[in-house]
Amino acid sequence: MRELKILLILVAFTLVTYYGIEPFAHKEMHAHVEPVNFDAQAEDINLANLRIEEATKGVLSAEEKLKIAESKATKNADDEKLQQALVDAAKAVDGAKKDLDTAQNRLSSYQELWSSVKETSALTGNAENGAEAFSMSCVACHGVKSQDMEAPFDDALSSEAYGVVVPDLSDAGAIYDKNFLAALIINPAHALKLDHKFNDDRPFPMTPFGGVGEDFNQDVADIVAYLRSIAPKEFDGKEVFESACLRCHDLRYDKLTATSEKNALKGYVGSNPPDISTMIRSRGAEYLETFINDPQKNIAGTAMPRVGLNEDAQEKLMGYLEQVGDSTKDERKTVGFWLIGFFAILSVLAYLWKQGVWRELH
Ligand code: HEC
Ligand code: HEC
Repeated sequence: MRELKILLILVAFTLVTYYGIEPFAHKEMHAHVEPVNFDAQAEDINLANLRIEEATKGVLSAEEKLKIAESKATKNADDEKLQQALVDAAKAVDGAKKDLDTAQNRLSSYQELWSSVKETSALTGNAENGAEAFSMSCVACHGVKSQDMEAPFDDALSSEAYGVVVPDLSDAGAIYDKNFLAALIINPAHALKLDHKFNDDRPFPMTPFGGVGEDFNQDVADIVAYLRSIAPKEFDGKEVFESACLRCHDLRYDKLTATSEKNALKGYVGSNPPDISTMIRSRGAEYLETFINDPQKNIAGTAMPRVGLNEDAQEKLMGYLEQVGDSTKDERKTVGFWLIGFFAILSVLAYLWKQGVWRELH
């Protein structure tokens, strides 16, 4: 029976490590990130509120430090270092208050954007009118190959003009969330969550839609309806990657090279977007999902735009990335089960053998 006790102790230790220590270490080492949320409005408002909370804490802690600096400085009026510390602490409070201001302004600008999206999504879009509005505004930059509309610029020229290849919109209505599309048309930099990178001095390359008829909201609803009407019913994960990611990212494991010219792209996003072939293994599927869904949630201030994929498209994309970057996952799992089975049988045989040997000795 000693063997059984040893086995039980081993199993207990393994379970404690696996379900107790490992998740605890993970929680301590990785900041908590809210799970994927395909409701872009809720996502934006929640994140903006979270940033306000953080900024408020920042102000409180800066004020706390200022108080301490003040009391020290009054007690030692001749200590220059302490006087300087007081000045610095006061500056830190100003800085923290500015951050809070920025966070509050961001919340109100997102509230404004999403309330206009709400107005447009309450309307029924007319695809025919949408086609017209589309051809009066969007085709200045975008091509739609499935409708025989060539892009006005080739990849090289587009990179030069915008820093990035302007994507073809043939399947935009299928892969992007409907409300995200409306938000994108109304305010591109906000919908893509790049408003911290672009402003009036450095305008975002996709211009906000100005409207073509009398009713702006109806125009937006019509364009969205048009994009959805021409969207393919069937598409796969690779097509999602090509439409939504390939203008910035390489995927060398599937022999794909980003379409934007590298230097222009670097000037545009400020860094070289990484090859994502192996990210599914190095970062894990869960991280990738939250990152793609809303990059700012994971890396505040990142230059990667929110892509705005709907749930179906994101699922297909994840399947594709797994197939490309982790093609042996199923094989590994099967081998794992075989190995466990093998050792289980081996243990039983070893136990029986030991019993046999000892029986003879007694
Ligand atoms: C002045 C040029 C320009 C105009 C006009 C323009 N776009 Fe864009 N659009 C861009 C650029 C550049 C990008 C790529 C931005 C990036 O990847 O950071 C883009 C990206 C997009 C995307 C992909 C967004 C994503 O999530 O990846 C969609 C969809 C889109 N535009 C739709 C439209 C629609 C609809 C219109 C017309 C109402 C329009 N665009 C007008 C330049 C333009
Ligand atoms: C307009 C360019 C652009 C597009 C489009 C884009 N990305 Fe990115 N992506 C970036 C940049 C820039 C970075 C580097 C971000 C940083 O370091 O802050 C990045 C980083 C990443 C990372 C690495 C995250 C990390 O933790 O290091 C992953 C994964 C990723 N992108 C996936 C995607 C996927 C999947 C798509 C398509 C659905 C996509 N990206 C579309 C520009 C882009």
